[in-house]
Amino acid sequence: MAEDYLWWRDGIVYQVYPRSFADSNGDGIGDLAGITAKLDYLSDLGIDAIWLSPFYPSPDADFGYDISNYTDVDARFGTLADFDELIAQAHQRSMRVVLDMVLNHTSDQHPWFVESRASRDNPKRDWYIWRDPMPEGHPPTNWEASFGGKAWEFDPSTGQYYLHSFLKEQPDINWRNPEVREALLDVFRFWLKRGVDGFRLDVFNAFFKDERFRDNPSKFGLRGFDRQQHLYDMDQPEMVPLLQELRALLDSYPQRYAVGETYIATPEKITRYAGDDRLHAAFSFDFTSQNLIYPWNARYVLEQISRRDRIFDAAGIWPTTVMSNHDLPRAASRYASGENDQQAVIAMTLLLTLRGTPFMYYGEEIGMRDIALKRSEIMDPPGKKYWPIYKGRDGCRAPMQWSNAPFAGFSTGKPWLPVHPNFLRRNVAAQQADPNSLFHFTQQLITLRRKFAALRLGSFRVFFRADTGVLAFERQLDEERILVFINFTGFTRAASFVRDADPKLATMLLSNVGRKEFYTSYNQFVLNPYEVLLVQVNPQAAESM
Ligand code: GLC
Ligand code: CA
Repeated sequence: MAEDYLWWRDGIVYQVYPRSFADSNGDGIGDLAGITAKLDYLSDLGIDAIWLSPFYPSPDADFGYDISNYTDVDARFGTLADFDELIAQAHQRSMRVVLDMVLNHTSDQHPWFVESRASRDNPKRDWYIWRDPMPEGHPPTNWEASFGGKAWEFDPSTGQYYLHSFLKEQPDINWRNPEVREALLDVFRFWLKRGVDGFRLDVFNAFFKDERFRDNPSKFGLRGFDRQQHLYDMDQPEMVPLLQELRALLDSYPQRYAVGETYIATPEKITRYAGDDRLHAAFSFDFTSQNLIYPWNARYVLEQISRRDRIFDAAGIWPTTVMSNHDLPRAASRYASGENDQQAVIAMTLLLTLRGTPFMYYGEEIGMRDIALKRSEIMDPPGKKYWPIYKGRDGCRAPMQWSNAPFAGFSTGKPWLPVHPNFLRRNVAAQQADPNSLFHFTQQLITLRRKFAALRLGSFRVFFRADTGVLAFERQLDEERILVFINFTGFTRAASFVRDADPKLATMLLSNVGRKEFYTSYNQFVLNPYEVLLVQVNPQAAESM
């Protein structure tokens, strides 16, 4: 069985935002040594792999997503030796390490760009995307930067525009240049040789732009970027052969992995970019929005699950489940009210019991909430630009809450972002001591997921009428059948099994309300408000299903 366990498919990936996880030297910025010191914590939690957001040298225009050297560690995060130690320690605990590869753009301080902008005939000129102004000096296309403003910046000293899909400090790389392509594939080789197990590719599907530089057609939207159909500034046909080349490189090592951050994810894009000869997975972000169109309730969540399963199953691609990451308000902030964790328990249950690789975001296991910042405290560039329509992403990047010590035990010095004021009660140490905490619930779910292959690999089938506010489904693999019940509502719910689905007899696995026994009567089952329940159908009862 052990050989059958594929870490990236069956395991749980935990995203660490290094700046905010653990600070080992008191400068207020998390670092690699800090992460290494917490590997036991992650291993006890049951994590199989960590994904590290960028720790490379960076001027921090976009907090590490603007890289000035792909093959080194920023001094604030440590050294390459610290990195080697982190990998060694992780591997000792059978944990894999996934790196964030930001290869759509570099920092404008990257030596490649410094050279590229030096003169029109510099050998690195063509490593970036330079174009002459249109008549009257207009930018070469109407493309918009996703962080605001035009995607083109005029460079007066050489009289041309360069492209930047994000900030002007993040010039887009010219992937069409064969030398660039080799240099970037070498970056993968460099880290593979250091023992890295996988990569998360930042906005990979924007690497290539239209060869003819056509204008994007317009559409309805709020911000400039949203008012365009992105036909020409991303998703060009050249991407697939590149992914195939990358996959061949990864496959020349055992069990290596790549997941893509699908930029403006659609089902069609995911089936195009993921598969046996391309990416192992591409994020679909099915559960990360909440608004009037995408409400948080049983019916809508089920629609999303069904939609996702249809797409992924038809294409034979393994899904990923994401509730939170460094670009989004945390799930607990989106769905929970105040310090009540009922909805956080529900989100965690979905993350760990649906088909697909769970990506857990640091602090999600203790239900960390977003911090609220005053305008003057905002660090994130798009937040500064769009405030108050959009307040940026600092909220979900606050320091990890380890204990009730000063600065939540994250650091001995003042952290780069404020600690959430709830840290006195909401922290790892407090939740470890409390058997009813979200932390314990999470740990128990992970244990069950490891124990029952059905929860990892089994089929998914809804067996309860979902119109009641209850989502109930079965995960089945061969004889093993696990039922998951989630009452999204604050009301007691009696719900009926669909025809012949009443399991009658089942063994309790996990309950968030202290339920001791499972029984049904007259084909009905009564759930408490916000109850989450996992049971195993007893083999002898299986015939009745
Ligand atoms: C991705 C990252 C985000 C970053 C952007 C530009 O969307 O997740 O944090 O700002 O790419 O690199
Ligand atoms: Ca530090």
